[in-house]
Amino acid sequence: MSWFPHSPDFLGRNFLSIISTNSHYIGAIIELHEKCEICYILSMDKLEELKQTIEVCRRCPLSETRNKVVFGGSNPTARVLLAGEAPGKNEDLSGEPFVGAAGKKLQALLDKAQLTRDEIFIANIVKCRPPKNRNPKPNELRACSPYLAEQIKIIQPKIVVTLGTFASQFILQTKEPITSLRGRIVEASSSERPFAVLPVFHPAAAIYDPSKQPFLEKDFELLRTWLDEREQQ
Ligand code: URA
Repeated sequence: MSWFPHSPDFLGRNFLSIISTNSHYIGAIIELHEKCEICYILSMDKLEELKQTIEVCRRCPLSETRNKVVFGGSNPTARVLLAGEAPGKNEDLSGEPFVGAAGKKLQALLDKAQLTRDEIFIANIVKCRPPKNRNPKPNELRACSPYLAEQIKIIQPKIVVTLGTFASQFILQTKEPITSLRGRIVEASSSERPFAVLPVFHPAAAIYDPSKQPFLEKDFELLRTWLDEREQQ
């Protein structure tokens, strides 16, 4: 197994706070044990800190109408990070990503790729619900997207699956439409390290336009193949 799906608790936080004060050692540890148990706990702590910041965020007007910030979850050292668009009604009420109709669609695609929510991380480019589920506005994307970038930096996924136009265009820094981006794995990089990107249609798009469903299924099969190939390396 190359990463840890469950939180190991045998290391005390005091020990962690001592070693994390020495960035030289911790850098070496992360290089040597890319997805180690220490990394899992450190990453979990960093994500918790970021979550607390976002929960009181007032960078854009969506903070005035939200019920809950949807930070995302769950594996802090996930190999696969899924980046969606923005919370809908159910997500806004529960604080969890993809729990509504789009979540059901997404779950079926994850099943196809033999992935569980425990082993991946799901986040959105916009963390608060746009009223009536309208598209996020440019000022909202500008205000919120650095949080997704920070999540990627902390989690260090091997591949980011971008769901739909907004996440795909942000991660790839392009204006190309999702119809031409989808289905091809390309390289991108955060400030820390490179990662692969697989743009796909947003699962909700297949609810309104069933002709998109076969493309989504094909792309999640491609994700499985890519992961299997990486595991054999
Ligand atoms: N659509 C998204 O993009 N994100 C969610 O969390 C729910 C629906």
